[in-house]
Amino acid sequence: MKWNNHFAERASRMTRSAVRELLKLTAQPGMISLAGGLPSPDLFPMERVKEAIEFVLGKAGKRALQYGETEGVAELRDWIARDFSRPEVPLKRENVVITSGGQQALDLIGRVLLNENDKVIVENPTYLALLSAWRLLGVQFLPVRSDANGMRVDKIEPLLQQKPKLIYAVPNFQNPQGTTLALERRVSLVELLRKYDVGLLEDNPYGELRYDGEPVASLLELDARLGTSGDLDSNVIYVGTFSKVLMPGLRVGWAIASEEVIEKIVRAKQAADLQTGTLSQYIIGEMIRDQFLERHIRVLRQAYRERRDAMLVALDRYFPNEASWTRPDGGMFLMVTLPAHLSASDVLKQALERKIAFVPGEEFHLDGMGRNTFRLNFSNATSDLIEQGIKRLGEVLKSMLTSASRG
Ligand SMILES: Cc1ncc(COP(=O)(O)O)c(C=O)c1O
Repeated sequence: MKWNNHFAERASRMTRSAVRELLKLTAQPGMISLAGGLPSPDLFPMERVKEAIEFVLGKAGKRALQYGETEGVAELRDWIARDFSRPEVPLKRENVVITSGGQQALDLIGRVLLNENDKVIVENPTYLALLSAWRLLGVQFLPVRSDANGMRVDKIEPLLQQKPKLIYAVPNFQNPQGTTLALERRVSLVELLRKYDVGLLEDNPYGELRYDGEPVASLLELDARLGTSGDLDSNVIYVGTFSKVLMPGLRVGWAIASEEVIEKIVRAKQAADLQTGTLSQYIIGEMIRDQFLERHIRVLRQAYRERRDAMLVALDRYFPNEASWTRPDGGMFLMVTLPAHLSASDVLKQALERKIAFVPGEEFHLDGMGRNTFRLNFSNATSDLIEQGIKRLGEVLKSMLTSASRG
C-alpha cells in the first residue's frame, strides 16, 4: 500500500526537529557537540540511581511495576505541591499532575486550551519543540522581541488587543538564548494577564541551574500574589521537569495549575498515554528524599558554571569581533549572532567537516528571522572540549568572514 496517499492532513505539519537529527551526527567519533540540550552524562548520579531502583523494588515492590493513577504517584505530587507552596501559593495535591517530561505537559496544555486559529504570544526566538507541538494545533503565533533582560514585555500590550488565548514564556535561562526575564518585567507581565484576562504558560526546566545572581520570583508566585480566593487562583500554568536536574531518561515532569485546569489535563493525558511510567515516578520519589536533589543540584551548578565560564573565555579569545553572544546567568545555552550576511546553516556545514556541531537559530525563530544566529550548549561537553570546539569554530568563522569580504 502507498501510505503516502493516506496520511492525515495534520501529518504534513509534523516536521522532524533539525536538533534531533543533528544529535544523530554528533555520535560520530571525534565530534565535539555543542548542539543538543543534553545534561552531562558524567554527572548522572549512577550509584544513587542503582540504590533507588533496589530500594523501590524492595519497598513499593510490585506496585512500582503496576499501572497507576493518571494524575501520578500521590507522594510525588505531594512533594511538588509542598516544594512550590508559598503563603500566596497554597498548593494541594490536586493542583499537580505528573507528566511524561515537561514536553508532554506543554503538548497537553495546548490541546486542552487552544483551538485552531487561536493566537498565542511567544518570545522570538523560543523553544523549538513548543512551536512544533502547538503548530500542529493550527494556532497562530504572535512573536515578541527579546533583549538581554528577556521578553520585551512593553511590546506585549498592543498584541493583547488581538485577544490571544495564551502567552508562552521561559523566564529563566531561556532556550535558546540563555536570557532571564527581569523582575520588573515579570511584575508588569502578571499585571497584564489579569487586565486582559489571558493565561500564561510558565515553562521552567532550567530555573534551578543558576550560576550567578539571586533567583527571581516565578510568574506563578507573582501572579498568585494578586489573587484573593485563598485557593490557587492564578492565570499562570507552571511546567517543571526532573530532566535537567536529575536525568531526562526517566521522562518525569509536571504541571501546576488550578484544579479545573489539572482536571482537563488529566483527561487529555488519559487519552494520550494513560499515565507516566510508575517505576520512573517511584525512582524520582526516592531520589528527592533526604535532600539528595538539593545536594545534587549544587554539584551540577558548580560543574556547569565552570563549563559556562570556559565557553565565555574561549568565545572572547577565539571568536571574530564581528560576532556577539549572550552571557547567561544559568541554564545550558547561549546564543551567538553573526553579521547579517552569514548564514549559520552554511557555517554548520563547514563546522561539521571540522567535527564541531551546534544548532542554527533559524528554527527557533518566527517570521524567517535568525538565519545569522546559532545556539551553543555548554552543559554536555567538558571544559577542555568546549575550548577546543570554540577554537575550531572561531577558525571556521574567521575564514568565512575573510572569504565573504573578498567575494
Ligand atoms: C524550554 C524547554 N521546555 C521543556 C523542555 C522539555 O524537557 P523534558 O520533556 O525532558 O522535561 C525542554 C527540553 O529541552 C526545554 O528546553
